Amino acid sequence: MKIEVSFSAAHLDEMQLREKNVVVIDVLRASTTITTALANGAREIIPVATIENAVKVSGSLFGDVTLRGGERNGKIIQGFNLGNSPLEYGPATVRGKSIIYCTTNGSVALVRARHARNLLVGSFVNLTRLVEFMSEVSADFLLLCAGRVPALGGFSLEDAVCAGMIIDRLSKEVAEVLDLSDGAVAARTLFKSHGRSIPKLLKSSDHGKYLAQIGFTEDLKICSAVDGVPVLPVWTGTSLRLRKEDAGKGAAESVPAEKPPTT
Ligand code: MLT
Repeated sequence: MKIEVSFSAAHLDEMQLREKNVVVIDVLRASTTITTALANGAREIIPVATIENAVKVSGSLFGDVTLRGGERNGKIIQGFNLGNSPLEYGPATVRGKSIIYCTTNGSVALVRARHARNLLVGSFVNLTRLVEFMSEVSADFLLLCAGRVPALGGFSLEDAVCAGMIIDRLSKEVAEVLDLSDGAVAARTLFKSHGRSIPKLLKSSDHGKYLAQIGFTEDLKICSAVDGVPVLPVWTGTSLRLRKEDAGKGAAESVPAEKPPTT
């Protein structure tokens, strides 16, 4: 099993990803929010790269079963139903809904990887569920960190540490010695040095500090809950849904109930 890690999606050639099994990691908060929404009964998540596309796609779907969710600068997008806090994606809000989803980095990485052989969503909240799947498949994987926009430095420490934790757990799960790329070795090293306390990691990361500053401290707690939402979102070719084995599992207790969308 060869494991590669990319710390940003910006340079990746979409068509090159066709042959790869890709896990998109955006801990704060796209991966966590997508996993939570599907665990809470959302029918599907349709990632789009731009707000214009979100308006176009939702225009072609039926209003009563469609929600628009996402953020710009961490806050709800004008005209959207939901922002990007996992707290907004509770069962009463999302059950049965198709969610058109547009975020700064996470949804862009997902759109870029849409031609992958297998496309999955990874985070701390579904880490073991993901590792179980990867060890079952026992194939080569690319862990694609959504990272941050180039203007904000591009690199996301929490995404890299999450990739490193996935590699560390996988290496204990499978019998063979993993073939790690330089990026994968770097991610695992970052996990060993920064992965002792995930809540502390998220509070001290650039994006974590920014989210706390704009009022989303509770989200850091939710996003740091390892295995708090043990389900696996997978790309079906047109949207992200739960693997049939996970359908109906529901979110673990650690994901609090409803919170009205932020303005
Ligand atoms: C992203 O996609 O860049 C993040 O999820 C942004 C956020 O939720 O703050």
